[in-house]
Order: sequence, then C-alpha cells, then structure tokens
Amino acid sequence: MSRGATRIAPSILAADFTRLGDELAAIERAGADWVHIDVMDGHFVPNITLGPFIVEACERATQLPLDVHLMIEKPERYIEEFARAGAATVGVQVEACPHLHRSVGQIHDAGARACVVLNPGTPASAVEPVLGDIDQILVMTVNPGFGGQKFIENMVDKIATLRRWIDERGHDVALEVDGGIAVETIGRAAAAGADVFVAGTAIFGAEDYAQAIEALRHAAG
Ligand code: DX5
Ligand code: ZN
Repeated sequence: MSRGATRIAPSILAADFTRLGDELAAIERAGADWVHIDVMDGHFVPNITLGPFIVEACERATQLPLDVHLMIEKPERYIEEFARAGAATVGVQVEACPHLHRSVGQIHDAGARACVVLNPGTPASAVEPVLGDIDQILVMTVNPGFGGQKFIENMVDKIATLRRWIDERGHDVALEVDGGIAVETIGRAAAAGADVFVAGTAIFGAEDYAQAIEALRHAAG
C-alpha cells in the first residue's frame, strides 16, 4: 500500500468564528498541513455555513493550503469563485454532479486541485470513471452537515477499496477522510489507506492544538 505522507487538515467548522484569524494562526503554529473549509447551502445538506467571502478572508489569514469542501447543489455555479477566493483544492460531492467529468475539468481550468467527495451511502464505484482525472478523493465517514458526529465504521472497507484501485492503477490521488476523526478512529482509516485526515472537534475542541495534532499524527502511524 502506497499511502502518501500523513496530512492533518483541521476543519474550521469547529473553530471560534469570533476569532477566526487567531484560530487559523494557532493551527498553523500547531503543525496543521491544510485548512479544511466546509461550505454548506441548506439544500444539499440541512446546515448553512459560509461562502467565498470567508474563504478569501482565510486566504489572507494563513499560508496553509485551503481544502474547500462544497456541500452544495449545482457546485458548478461556484467553482471559479471559490478558486478565485484562494481554494487550493475544490471538492465536489459526486451526488451533486450529474456531469462529474465536466465539473472536474472545470476545477482544473480554474487552477485548483480537483477532489471528488462520496457520501456514506455512495459506493466507491461512483468515482471510478474519473479516477485518472482527479487529485483527491474524500470519503465521508459521517453524513455531511454537522461536526461532532460519530465515525461510521463501515466506511473502512470503502477506503480500502479505493486505496487498492489507486495503487493498482498507479494514480497520484490523495485519499482523504472526513467526519468523526479522532485518536480513537484515525488509526483504522489510516490502516485502510487514507492519507489526509480532516478533524474538527478533535482539534478545535482540545485545550492544546499542537498536542491534539501530534496525537492524531501518532495514532495514524
Ligand atoms: C461534516 C464536515 C466535516 C466536519 C468534521 O459535514 O464535512 O468537515 O467539520 O467535523 P468532526 O471532525 O467534528 O466530525
Ligand atoms: Zn468537510
């Protein structure tokens, strides 16, 4: 199994938004690799969060690459805007993309890395046709919409399947997991082949961010 280097991407959904700049500086000092930004529209998921305006503010507040996760209907309407706001990676939910191959091309044309996101109820095969065209897959390990949910254990098999396909076919694709990632769960996701780990509560809910990130890295092995 050829996992890439372990990357930890704190999800700012769990940050204190009254002090967003300080929170971003703190996770950067604490050794985070990326910043994960959850965009929700109140349609694709029940929650509403933030838009390009906040992504642009994050871009000014940190040097870390911004990993933008679009949980929105018709994401193709907003890909360019999020890329312009500073997204290094734009993730689209496969369930929201009837023209997935076109959406992936649109992300690349906008100058960002392309990520395809799978909900827990969506099989690995949904991403197979574009495996050679993308930079990253995100396997949701909770149903998207809220932070602080419980890791769905059955997703471990999906992660392992995707890792096998990526390796067998020699693709350079990062394999990310998101939802319920904590010291108790990250090891199983890593052993199955994930190499990018989103964590909200497990980092921003901790007293010491550096310690929390180090504990996750250590538990990922
Ligand atoms: C869920 C979001 C996640 C969320 C993770 O819809 O996509 O990124 O912030 O939060 P935790 O780590 O608390 O499960
Ligand atoms: Zn997310």
